[in-house]
Amino acid sequence: MDKQNDQSRMDKIVSLAKRRGFIFQSSEIYGGLNGFWDYGPLGVALKRNVKDAWWRDMVAGHDELATLAGAPSPYEMTGLDCTIIMHPQVWKCSGHFDLFHDWMIDCRESKRRYRYDHLHGRWAAHRGKKVFVTTDQSGDEAVPDTVAKAQKFFGLRAKQVDEIEWGGGLESLQAVVAAGVASLADALGPDAAAPGSLTEPREFNLMFETRIGALAGDDDDRAFLRPETAQGIFVNFKNVLDTSRVSVPFGIAQVGKSFRNEITPRNFTFRSREFEQMEIEFFCKPADSAEWYRYWRDRRWKWYLDLGLTAGKLQLREHASDELSHYSVGTADIEYAFPFLAPGEFGELEGIAHRGDFDLRSHMEGKLVRKNGELVVETGPDGKPRHRGSGKDLSYFDDVSRERYVPHVIEPSAGADRGTLAFLCDAYHEDEVPDADGKPRSRTVMKFHPRLAPVKAAILPLVKKDGMPEVAIDLYRALKPHMACQYDEKGAVGRRYARQDEAGTPWCLTIDGQTLADKTVTLRDRDSLVQSRVPVAEVVDLLRDKLA
Ligand code: GAP
Repeated sequence: MDKQNDQSRMDKIVSLAKRRGFIFQSSEIYGGLNGFWDYGPLGVALKRNVKDAWWRDMVAGHDELATLAGAPSPYEMTGLDCTIIMHPQVWKCSGHFDLFHDWMIDCRESKRRYRYDHLHGRWAAHRGKKVFVTTDQSGDEAVPDTVAKAQKFFGLRAKQVDEIEWGGGLESLQAVVAAGVASLADALGPDAAAPGSLTEPREFNLMFETRIGALAGDDDDRAFLRPETAQGIFVNFKNVLDTSRVSVPFGIAQVGKSFRNEITPRNFTFRSREFEQMEIEFFCKPADSAEWYRYWRDRRWKWYLDLGLTAGKLQLREHASDELSHYSVGTADIEYAFPFLAPGEFGELEGIAHRGDFDLRSHMEGKLVRKNGELVVETGPDGKPRHRGSGKDLSYFDDVSRERYVPHVIEPSAGADRGTLAFLCDAYHEDEVPDADGKPRSRTVMKFHPRLAPVKAAILPLVKKDGMPEVAIDLYRALKPHMACQYDEKGAVGRRYARQDEAGTPWCLTIDGQTLADKTVTLRDRDSLVQSRVPVAEVVDLLRDKLA
């Protein structure tokens, strides 16, 4: 069992990720770029395996003739790969142009910028002086951070810290300012020496802007990097319908990069500025949408469990009814207890949303707003649509019921990087294994599900002589067409096992003296450490079966 607190566990995961080539800071030799991450040799394989598992389980391997458990009927799945830069009108009609923003707040003294909703604080008083001490830290680090800041502000020595009188626990700065309990003038900024340096909050659109064409200059050339892959699917709805034989209910899936100019990227890859999403837009008959919503919510929840995430660290959080848009019958988040969060806190891995007909109608009619409980086209002062839609008919004619309707959409939207991070955190274990002399040795082992493990098998000749490398190389060549495997003859076999444990390789195959005599190898299981003898001729089939 791991004994460290979760922050030190997270530090170890980040350090292993770098040391073993899972994840590097982008542009590290130039000091790195905040919010951008590169995947190293093991990381790229892990993330690819996450995306491949998703695509295989949701799209390529989907049986469209069967009624899957919990599904109201059989359904079809297909895919798309859309561009990152799309027509600017897409983002105007989707609502991102007007509404996709966070509130940011600047510090005049430290010149630092924060997300308003990320600032928390508490009242501290000492000898008649009172200040609302804020922090931008989260989890276990937030309270100690406020203590350190208050100590500095009041000019106290460490042994005087107990003299500070605290006015309660941490609260959101945004909430206390809104409630009038504190003002920004009372607040000591996270990196400031005196209170009153925080500016009024301002809106900040999260879309990255760019310009199209060499003569770019005026507003018409403004374009945006997509902040979600979903819109590419909506605007291609008719293309897919007209060119493939799909009929409602069906889903369109897409995996690809999205970009958000996050004000404060943080927590390793959890909140990045460039990341990948795995999204499905599932189109169904409005009357059946509640059932489809429940199906996708449960299906996606089960997917994470099937790939080995610890059930106790996963949470399915249904949004409360007052959090839902009026057209929505449900939204749920699948959340994971990441080690950088405080005990009891969870971070979003995936959202499953019932989006009604909002998106297809917006791209037909123009940007919609809610008025008296209804979605209507938002108009400008001239009475014309504020953002004009495409005018294309995105309704669907149902051949079976002979009805025409705008399909409702269920959207399971997952983050490939967040998923990869959750699998990385969940896999991290420290335990003890006996060394060559039978003495316990501590080991770090990444217990990835075999489907996700970057390397499935390592082939290790015990010594570099006596014909062992030749047998090992033959076995490596037999396995390689079927799965990612490595040949390693360098160093003591115990060290080679340790290297593979850290990479998360589920199986090690050792070629030893007995192999030469009876054509069997030792198969070592990463998790149980059980070693069994397997005929060389059966290894490929055996491991393929285990992976199936
Ligand atoms: N189309 C709906 C949509 O984009 P979202 O909740 O904003 O919904 C979906 O994003 C998923 O994308 C999140 O659950 C998360 O896994 C991932 N994601 C969103 N922002 C991210 C970021 N800044 N860094 C990494 N992943 C992010």
